[in-house]
Amino acid sequence: MTIRVVMSGATGWVGKALIPAIVAEADLKLAGAVARGAAGWDAGSAIGAAPIGVEVRATLEEALKKAESDVVVDYTKPVAVKDHALTAVSNGRHVVIGTSGLGAADYAEIDAAARANGVGVIAAGNFSITATLMKRFALMAAKYVPDVEVIDYASAKKPDAPSGTARELAEALADIRGASTAKLQSEVSGVPETRGGAVGAAPGVQVHALRLPSYILSCEALFGLPDERLTIRHDAGSSAAPYVAGTLLAIRHVVNIKGLVRGLDSLID
Ligand SMILES: NC(=O)c1ccc[n+]([C@@H]2O[C@H](COP(=O)([O-])OP(=O)(O)OC[C@H]3O[C@@H](n4cnc5c(N)ncnc54)[C@H](OP(=O)(O)O)[C@@H]3O)[C@@H](O)[C@H]2O)c1
Repeated sequence: MTIRVVMSGATGWVGKALIPAIVAEADLKLAGAVARGAAGWDAGSAIGAAPIGVEVRATLEEALKKAESDVVVDYTKPVAVKDHALTAVSNGRHVVIGTSGLGAADYAEIDAAARANGVGVIAAGNFSITATLMKRFALMAAKYVPDVEVIDYASAKKPDAPSGTARELAEALADIRGASTAKLQSEVSGVPETRGGAVGAAPGVQVHALRLPSYILSCEALFGLPDERLTIRHDAGSSAAPYVAGTLLAIRHVVNIKGLVRGLDSLID
């Protein structure tokens, strides 16, 4: 079966990497492309490649009307993604959400809409396979070592903190690890904020977000026991390549599910 894909965010950093990857796969077909600034262009030309015979549309609604499709992949902006996801599922399309910025209440709404329409949605804060492995290994370690903190490294210009990767990791760690032996932020003197922000179910996992030139995106889980330490770290480079394989995996999986699945963890086996 060929899976027909609409790429929402076709001209973006990730969209530019995903379009050639989708076109290259025998079981996938690029059925539509969305980006306001390139509306009317051929999707290939719009990303500086050879024409591919798919016209870029200004809105997702238009792209869904113009061609039949099975899956919408969204890598746009936090302000647009929820509307795109709900538009796609209400039109009977499965959705892969790469765009950051949605919270638990948004996901609950998207899950309910997907179930009502009998389609699947897969959303992940990080579609890199090795970042997913990093999270999995950290969650394995947390079952044995409850004292864990997260360091989130990114460029000076990154607008949000913590990163989606660090936030998802800390939330998952907070759900499964035992009681930490570290003093709570409220119990330390000095400048308590330097202990980082607590993320996830109370008391949360401390996350320390560094924002400095020269970093791209790295995330580290540090586990401590008396007289020994374990570090599990992921480093992303400067291209969007790490997110392609995981997104393709999600496209192939999402057509077989109903409702929302968050994270790549359950798919990588
Ligand atoms: N989950 C992951 O693994 C992962 C990895 C990397 C990035 N991300 C996230 O994915 C999102 C996109 O990242 P990026 O770096 O590719 O962004 P980007 O380079 O800014 O590209 C955004 C794309 O979306 C389009 N767009 C923006 N607003 C739109 C709207 N309202 N309607 C239709 N198209 C719209 C833009 O074109 P026009 O402006 O011309 O419309 C452009 O094609 C961000 O939230 C980022 O944090 C997630």
